[in-house]
Amino acid sequence: MAQTKITSKTFKLNTGAEIPAIGLGTWQSKPGEVGRAVEAALRAGYRHIDTAFAYGNEKEVGEGIRASGVPREEIFLTTKLDNPWHKRAPEALKRSLENLGVDYLDLYLMHWPSSTDPDDPKKHYPDWDFVDTWREMQKLMETGKIRNLGVSNFGIKNLERLLNDPSCKIVPAVNQIELHPGNPSPKLVAYCAEKGIHCTGYSPLGSSDSPLYKNETIAAIAQAKNRTVQQVLLLWGLKKGWSVLPKSVNPDRIKANFDLDGWDLTDEEMAKIDAIPDRFKVCGDAWLPIKVFFGDDE
Ligand SMILES: NC(=O)c1ccc[n+]([C@@H]2O[C@H](COP(=O)([O-])OP(=O)(O)OC[C@H]3O[C@@H](n4cnc5c(N)ncnc54)[C@H](OP(=O)(O)O)[C@@H]3O)[C@@H](O)[C@H]2O)c1
Repeated sequence: MAQTKITSKTFKLNTGAEIPAIGLGTWQSKPGEVGRAVEAALRAGYRHIDTAFAYGNEKEVGEGIRASGVPREEIFLTTKLDNPWHKRAPEALKRSLENLGVDYLDLYLMHWPSSTDPDDPKKHYPDWDFVDTWREMQKLMETGKIRNLGVSNFGIKNLERLLNDPSCKIVPAVNQIELHPGNPSPKLVAYCAEKGIHCTGYSPLGSSDSPLYKNETIAAIAQAKNRTVQQVLLLWGLKKGWSVLPKSVNPDRIKANFDLDGWDLTDEEMAKIDAIPDRFKVCGDAWLPIKVFFGDDE
């Protein structure tokens, strides 16, 4: 059966809130480009924007939102607590809100389960980790400035630790993780579903210079359907049950990535993509002072 209006689909979070299925990614979207990209996306119908303090572009993302004319309350806006700010969550939130020029966030994520010493990015705090950070982030909910709280880059091992800690009162609404056919993480996705945590898939296209664009299986499906490889990748992710965050600063691609209504992938096509054996990860943990991925998510 053909999908009707998948672009207006939302997923229900464990808070009752609805997260729009397709969001614009903004990592590596440069100054001078990102504001226009956000504006173009909102004008094309996107209602979900993903940014992060670490991307250094929150201010321009906020400008793009305002330039679009789309009312704030119609937009699901996500930003993230940066690693060197784990001990200063209230101040980090304040800065992000000021940068974005908004008075609330729809979703505030802990960007990585890594509490980095701001004086030395190679060092992890000896007396603090992500469980402490979550305890402090939970308190931020009392400010009324965050509608939903979540995590990002949490594998099963770290989620288990977080959820089993007595200080954990709020089950994360979202775990934003790398998800594409080269990193499908089925065990992690199933674990999150069991715990009531919605998964959002980042790098859904395989990120910059994606090897997925040369994949013959995906190319054949795209050709047969007269669709782009990117559209097939996005619909595959949505049909797997996660929200997707395609990034582009090109208005035509922004529009094309949202042109997902009125066609579908068959079970057989989904299974073919599921069966692609090649694995790669865009965002590893080698740059962090601690290991956060343990190879147990697939
Ligand atoms: N939580 C985290 O730690 C984390 C980590 C990574 C990403 N993310 C989020 O997820 C978003 C998406 O991930 P990503 O930025 O890594 O990569 P992505 O969305 O998988 O791919 C983006 C790349 O694909 C290109 N592209 C986009 N649409 C295209 C199209 N229709 N045809 C051809 N090329 C196209 C973009 O170039 P152009 O811009 O030139 O079109 C860019 O080079 C990020 O922007 C960020 O918001 C979160």
